Amino acid sequence: MLFIRKLNCRLVLARIQGRWCTTEPTRHVPVMAKETIQFLKPRNNELFIDMTFGAGGHTREILKAAPSAKIIALDRDPVAHEMALALADKFPGQIYPILGWFSELPQKLEELGIRQRSIDGMIFDFGCSSMQFDEGSRGFSISKDGPLDMRMDKERCPDAPTAAEILAKIDEIDLARVLKIYGEEKHAKKIAGAIVEARNTIKKIETTKELADLVQSCFGSDSFGLDKLKRPSHLATKTFQALRIFVNNELNEINYGMVLAQHYLKIGGKMITITFHSLEDTIVKRHIMGNVLNDMANKLPLRYNSHIICHEQEVMETVMKSPWHQLSKHVIVPTYEEVEDNPRSRSAKLRAVVLVD
Ligand SMILES: C[S@@+](CC[C@H](N)C(=O)[O-])C[C@H]1O[C@@H](n2cnc3c(N)ncnc32)[C@H](O)[C@@H]1O
Repeated sequence: MLFIRKLNCRLVLARIQGRWCTTEPTRHVPVMAKETIQFLKPRNNELFIDMTFGAGGHTREILKAAPSAKIIALDRDPVAHEMALALADKFPGQIYPILGWFSELPQKLEELGIRQRSIDGMIFDFGCSSMQFDEGSRGFSISKDGPLDMRMDKERCPDAPTAAEILAKIDEIDLARVLKIYGEEKHAKKIAGAIVEARNTIKKIETTKELADLVQSCFGSDSFGLDKLKRPSHLATKTFQALRIFVNNELNEINYGMVLAQHYLKIGGKMITITFHSLEDTIVKRHIMGNVLNDMANKLPLRYNSHIICHEQEVMETVMKSPWHQLSKHVIVPTYEEVEDNPRSRSAKLRAVVLVD
């Protein structure tokens, strides 16, 4: 029975990835797992929410530290959700997998009978998992060709527009704003102009390679970018980041996730956040400091995006005064050894706070 379930799970994974094979996807390595547990200090029988289950790296660390802890495992990605279901089989009665967005969580928790102020700890490990980044067919990868999709939950939301569909329709001015704001791309206008010209005169951009090559062509074939640590990076990195954030409504979701943590944690409950770029970190930091701006998360029109806008005035007013106490004076970054072992961790910043009000 267990064998059949495992086989089914692998086939579902393969089907979701658009290919019939039985190889496992790249396993995501959890970032700053040791530091997460040091601050979270999980204890047996406590109840946690892993808001970004992914491959379950942080959830597993909680279980190692507190073997009878209970964990609600949320992820919007059906591939990650299958992994959560498999882990729930291994730990009966301890893992509660939920498929959905942060903004859908209140409804899902109500169905489980979970009330506000009842959670001991919440983890947010933002961004994409290695399973999403490294699988060409998911359309996030600059280096592996695939359809320009970028939806974290395409099976669940087949009507949500892909990155290719957005690039086929968006006005040049709006595109430049998306690239500038969500990618912090200095050459946003130039790249937006090239994309619109290509779609009008040659063809629509449909694959990750076409987009990566087009952005590269704006600068010359020998040029390369530098990341924040001054290492060479592909010139399309910021364009890909911007589109991914836009396609998945990521900043509004993070903003709403911070509101949820304040509602669902017990007084004394802890929140750990791991961010990978300054747009994510700024939202988290503003909530922690009690300095939330109404229009902070999404300064762009969402007419290409079917998701709910989730930063209503009323909700935001309840979080203007900070109820958080910081567990560490400074932001935590990965050790040199971790960055060597897992280069994906290089831009990570961990914040740990406790709810006091
Ligand atoms: C960096 S990965 C988490 C990896 C995980 N901590 C681990 O160690 O395996 C981020 C995960 O968050 C999920 N995610 C991102 N935004 C989300 C949202 N708004 N709602 C639910 N899940 C989300 C992604 O699908 C992805 O699987």
